[in-house]
Parts: sequence; C-alpha cells; structure tokens
Amino acid sequence: MQRKVLIFGGGGQLGVELCREFEQRRWTVQRFDRQSLDVTDATRVERAVAGAEPQVIVNSAAYNQVDIAESEPLAAYQANALAVRNLAMACRQSGAQLVHYSTDYVFDGTKGSPYLETDLPHPLGAYAVSKLAGELYAQAYLANPLVIRVSGVYGPGGRFTPRGNFVELMLRLAGTGNPIRVVQDHVASPTYAPAIASRTADMVEKGMGGLYHMGGGEPISWYEYAKQIFQTAGLSPSLQPTDEREYRTAARRPKFSALSNKKLEAVGIAPMPPIAEALRDYFEKRNHVTAHR
Ligand SMILES: NC(=O)c1ccc[n+]([C@@H]2O[C@H](COP(=O)([O-])OP(=O)(O)OC[C@H]3O[C@@H](n4cnc5c(N)ncnc54)[C@H](OP(=O)(O)O)[C@@H]3O)[C@@H](O)[C@H]2O)c1
Repeated sequence: MQRKVLIFGGGGQLGVELCREFEQRRWTVQRFDRQSLDVTDATRVERAVAGAEPQVIVNSAAYNQVDIAESEPLAAYQANALAVRNLAMACRQSGAQLVHYSTDYVFDGTKGSPYLETDLPHPLGAYAVSKLAGELYAQAYLANPLVIRVSGVYGPGGRFTPRGNFVELMLRLAGTGNPIRVVQDHVASPTYAPAIASRTADMVEKGMGGLYHMGGGEPISWYEYAKQIFQTAGLSPSLQPTDEREYRTAARRPKFSALSNKKLEAVGIAPMPPIAEALRDYFEKRNHVTAHR
C-alpha cells in the first residue's frame, strides 16, 4: 500500500529534514511551506488534507519568535494553537495520524532536573502558552495524536531559514569580531533536527501516539553550548558568560528546561546523539545543504 505523509512547515529547519527522512524511507511526501499553505487557514487545511488522503500529517510549522510574541500574542496563538486545531480537525475527518511538535518552554524551569512527560506544565509567556494550547488542541480533538516536545532545535537547513538557529546566530556574531556574551545560568537540551526527523519517522512507522520528550542528550547551558559550537567550527572568538540579570529579554524563559528522554528510550527509540556528535554532523552537512524553497 502507498504510504503518504503531508508535512506542514516544510520550509523550516525541521521540516526540510522530515521531508528528506520520509522520502528516503519511500513514503510519498507532500510538502507545504507557508507560501503554499498557511496553516491558520482552516478551509485550505481541510481541503488539502481531504484531497490528499494521507495516513499521516506532520506539523512542524510554528511561530517561534519567543520575544516578539509578547507584543503580538494573537499571531503566536493563531499559528501555534488554532492552526493545530485546524490540523487536528482535518485529521479527525480523514482518519490520518497527527504528529505535532511542542517545546520545553511549556515548563517554568524551577524543577532543576530534566523534565518528564508527567511533570506539570507552567508556561511563562505568550509563546509558551500558545504552544501548550497547541498540545491541548491536538489532544482534545484526537484520541491518540503523537506530540513530541523538543528544545532549542538546530539543523543545517537553519542556514537558509529566516529565523535560523542558535548555531547560525553564533557564527554570525563571531563574524563581526565583537565579544559575544551568552547566558550561563540558563540550561536546555538543544535538539538536532535530523535526529528528531529520524526518530519521528521510527515512531510513525511503529504506529505510536502519546506525549514524548525528545531532548538533545545532556542538559547544557547556552554558554557551554556556544563554547562547543566554536570548538567544533574551529573558531575562537571572544566568548564571555553573562546571566539573565544582565541579559534582559521581553519574554520570561525557564532557567532549566532540559528534557528527559527516558520514556522515549523505554519504548525502544534510539537514544539522541550527544551534542558533540550532533555538532560535528551539523558542520559536515552545513556545507552541502541548499535552500529548500
Ligand atoms: N527552533 C527552536 O528553537 C524550537 C525550540 C523548541 C520547539 N520548537 C518547535 O519545533 C518545531 C519545528 O521548529 P523549527 O525549528 O523547524 O522552526 P522554523 O525553522 O522556524 O520553522 C517553522 C516553519 O513554520 C513556518 N510557519 C510559520 N507560521 C506558519 C503558518 N501560519 N503557516 C504555515 N507555515 C508557517 C515558518 O515559515 P516562515 O519562516 O515563513 O515564518 C517556518 O518555515 C516547531 O513546532 C517549534 O515550535 C522549536
């Protein structure tokens, strides 16, 4: 039987990896980026899904501008929450499985150790609220959607996307020759997009649903992460640690938002690669990726 997947957000750094991964596994992939389909348009989403008759819909479209969301919370809510409702309703009508991504920012960061799926969310800002609402919409309309929380996503495709990622930001800042200040009192688990894509496809092929954390291995501060990025890239800019008192942002962020992958590994999904290995792969692939638009 022909296996068909629709990928929404296909122009993003995770979206390009998902398309590549499912194509390699010989799925028929229909890719939508924002230009070809705005996920906030319920009628167009419904038509696209009904016309394609897919087994699976993967949603990696998102509004990810954490600080700007504080001044335009409705835009974040439309893309991250109401659009998920559109997709969930379309899945309900067509019988397709929904795969949706959420974030470590649903937590407030006060736990102090990696978050489990059973920990209670407590979002700290407009972006985080909108992402939690997206999870709830998927779970409200569907019996068993697959919802995967990730953290600080980076993939080689981010070299070409408007929002990029932390690695590309560090490389850009290094290029200016100015000192770079990065917070050392915020810890996350940056997650490598190609690894997310391959584990997602494994989960889809196993017919899995439920809520899963998929962090990038060990918890790491943004400062230590920046150090590893420069080491791997063979660069030595002036990198200085700072903290949240000095580095103010519009949105509040969880101080410790690393995700535990225990549940994921317990169901037999391959462990996520350590950061050092993922970064080496990133820089190897970075020179070979081309804009996917
Ligand atoms: N990036 C992170 O650090 C991070 C952290 C935690 C969780 N996540 C989650 O991981 C998933 C993948 O994120 P990513 O890193 O791949 O983000 P990304 O590179 O910013 O990709 C998101 C894509 O969604 C598109 N998009 C935004 N609004 C849309 C709309 N209304 N209709 C259709 N497409 C729309 C964007 O298009 P434009 O570029 O034209 O806006 C972009 O191509 C998302 O669910 C995200 O919330 C990401």
